[in-house]
Amino acid sequence: MNKDNGSDRNNIPVLRVVNMSKGFGKVQALKDVNLEIHRGEVMGLLGDNGAGKSTLIKIIAGNFRADKGELYLDREKVAFNSPAEARGAGIETVYQNSEICVNATVAANFFIGRELCGKIPGFRLLKEGTMQKETEEVLSDIGIDVPSVTAKMGFLSGGQRQAIILGRFFHWGGRLALLDEPFAALGVAESRKGLKLMRQLSERGLPIILITHNIEHAFAVATKFIILRHGEVVGKGSVEDVTADDVVAIITGATHITK
Ligand SMILES: Nc1ncnc2c1ncn2[C@@H]1O[C@H](COP(=O)(O)OP(=O)(O)OP(=O)(O)O)[C@@H](O)[C@H]1O
Ligand SMILES: [Mg+2]
Repeated sequence: MNKDNGSDRNNIPVLRVVNMSKGFGKVQALKDVNLEIHRGEVMGLLGDNGAGKSTLIKIIAGNFRADKGELYLDREKVAFNSPAEARGAGIETVYQNSEICVNATVAANFFIGRELCGKIPGFRLLKEGTMQKETEEVLSDIGIDVPSVTAKMGFLSGGQRQAIILGRFFHWGGRLALLDEPFAALGVAESRKGLKLMRQLSERGLPIILITHNIEHAFAVATKFIILRHGEVVGKGSVEDVTADDVVAIITGATHITK
């Protein structure tokens, strides 16, 4: 673990969202949303269906442009025109239905967009053996069981596919991790594994924003939370200061705490 608590670096938010607003026609999906996340923090991004959670993640990940507001990465103002630009800046995203190629092998999916190529001029020779070996090592390192890294993704169960997507994501890491309902297709044991991976990553300093409808999952990993309702922030703070019942009351609109 190399958690550099107390250093100046930890005082600068890795991500700061300032007065972010986004509308879709008559629907105001986000209204003046502010948040910040530091190294080693896991933020639970909570709220009912349609609260604006995915919209916020998609703006940070370069899928949507905001109508108003700013994004800062380590104090630098950024505006992404595409998911590739956000990925280039170190923002990795996992969605419930993340992209996979069902006809390609586990190893090929693990290395998608980052394929290792041999150096023969004029040829694009994939180093398949090396990629398979590395995939095997990484998956066994982080405790993900698959029948074989040469199996086609299409033959794996929904939970196994999602575990590989999570493994790929955690392995390539980055500067900021965004997870939108990553465990929705996973069973109890696989979700636990996913939560454990998240904790390990955050202990190494990676800031993570986790969208989940599962309050138990949020409390298992989050250090802080933010709650959206109809696009507005209706609650935020440290998980230590609230109970699960408090959070549910804010999500459903029974109580407001911080604005
Ligand atoms: N591409 C889009 N076009 C039109 N409206 C959209 C679009 N994306 C989201 N919205 C609307 O914006 C609002 C917020 O949606 P969003 O997907 O951010 O909610 P959410 O909090 O992620 O909900 P859920 O928990 O159901 O995933 C909703 O009213 C939704 O219908
Ligand atoms: Mg959503």
